[in-house]
Amino acid sequence: MGKFFINGGKALQGEVVLDCAKNSLLPILAGCILVDGKVKLLSVPKYSDVIAMCDILENLGAKVCWLADDLLLDCSCIDKSVICHELASPVRSSVFTLGPLLARLGKAKVAYPGGCDIGLRPIDIHLSSLKQLGCKIIEKNGYIYGEKGDNGNQSVVLKFASVGATENIMMFATLLPGKTQIFNAAKEPEIVDLACFLNKCGACIKGAGSDVITIDGVQSLSGCEYLAIPDRIECGTFLIGAAMTHGQICIKNAIEKHNEVLIEKLKSCGCKIFSDQNGLHLSSPKTLESFGDVETAVYPGFPTDLQPQIVALACVCNGCSLIFENVFESRFNYVGELLKLGGDVKFKSSVCIVRGRKKLYGADVFATDLRGGAALVLAGLASEGYTTVNKIEYIDRGYYNLAEKLTKLGADIKRL
Ligand code: UD1
Repeated sequence: MGKFFINGGKALQGEVVLDCAKNSLLPILAGCILVDGKVKLLSVPKYSDVIAMCDILENLGAKVCWLADDLLLDCSCIDKSVICHELASPVRSSVFTLGPLLARLGKAKVAYPGGCDIGLRPIDIHLSSLKQLGCKIIEKNGYIYGEKGDNGNQSVVLKFASVGATENIMMFATLLPGKTQIFNAAKEPEIVDLACFLNKCGACIKGAGSDVITIDGVQSLSGCEYLAIPDRIECGTFLIGAAMTHGQICIKNAIEKHNEVLIEKLKSCGCKIFSDQNGLHLSSPKTLESFGDVETAVYPGFPTDLQPQIVALACVCNGCSLIFENVFESRFNYVGELLKLGGDVKFKSSVCIVRGRKKLYGADVFATDLRGGAALVLAGLASEGYTTVNKIEYIDRGYYNLAEKLTKLGADIKRL
């Protein structure tokens, strides 16, 4: 088990380049199941979740290999439709294979997905939507059994704009004859990215990024070369890290529009933020004021995946901040660890109240999940003295070479 050893108090300064978005790559990898040809995914960071999805594809019969940082996939030879518990349970994204497997092979047997412990994460919207589109779905002995049928509806209305369910249905409908519509679809940039990838392979998907997605089914998809969008959560993590350490950074390939609410919040803390041809720049003042309150919401609202990091930021802002978690039911598991660093944080059900302190102090802490772990790293960077962040395998799920990138920005952090 790895750990980060941080000597805090150094300002983040300099330039950084974002990796491709984890939440784009995972559904895109599932989408490769639909493709009867070779796919080359460019500059793929080796997130542990990506490696887990590659293992799943290989087990289904796909050929997967790395060519330096590019990932080559040939799913034309996929002939298995079963994903066992050992392969499915390490990642949430294993459930994304359901739609593509049903579309390509007409059947699937997939064990329940896993993922970070951030509360109950049901998959009822995925399953009920596939049923509405004509699939027979049975849940038994820890597995989801699916079979494609003929007499499905032409549309589904999601009761909640679930990111994963939108992606699963979009992939299933790609090879379904006729027109399928998804109403109340999720609008996250990663959904647009998945649609762009599938369209580049020959799919006909319109409206991704709005709440109505229309898919005209095609007979087959062929291979392509694709570069996924930069990771907006990594972007937010660096922006917050620079703010907390009173630094000055430039994020070379940031897409400002993907982080609009965060940028507004950081400006209200006193940070100066602007974009030019070199990238997105942030410079942080000597004293940060509280951003007031923030509530997580579906895109374009404030992302739940940046909630722990903004709670860490609130710990070093003047005054009191309120953070409402509206997307996941229990996403404050990391707070106990933040207290060890001196944070004044209280939470009850979905609300967290933070009273800013002048200083945090280094301590030995344990990551509890991916983004909670990132928040602890940021708090460690902003603390006086030494912090050890244990259990960083959670962080490896969605950050690649994090210590190297932070070191280049002037942090004193080592992976042990
Ligand atoms: C995706 C992201 C995750 C992010 C989340 C919300 C990936 C790989 N992961 O996760 O990083 O935090 O979006 O932006 O893209 N829900 C149900 N039933 C369902 C599906 C979801 O009740 O069938 C609920 C969930 O429990 C949760 C909420 O809907 O409370 C949001 O989940 P969803 O949008 O599906 O998130 P994921 O796709 O799991």
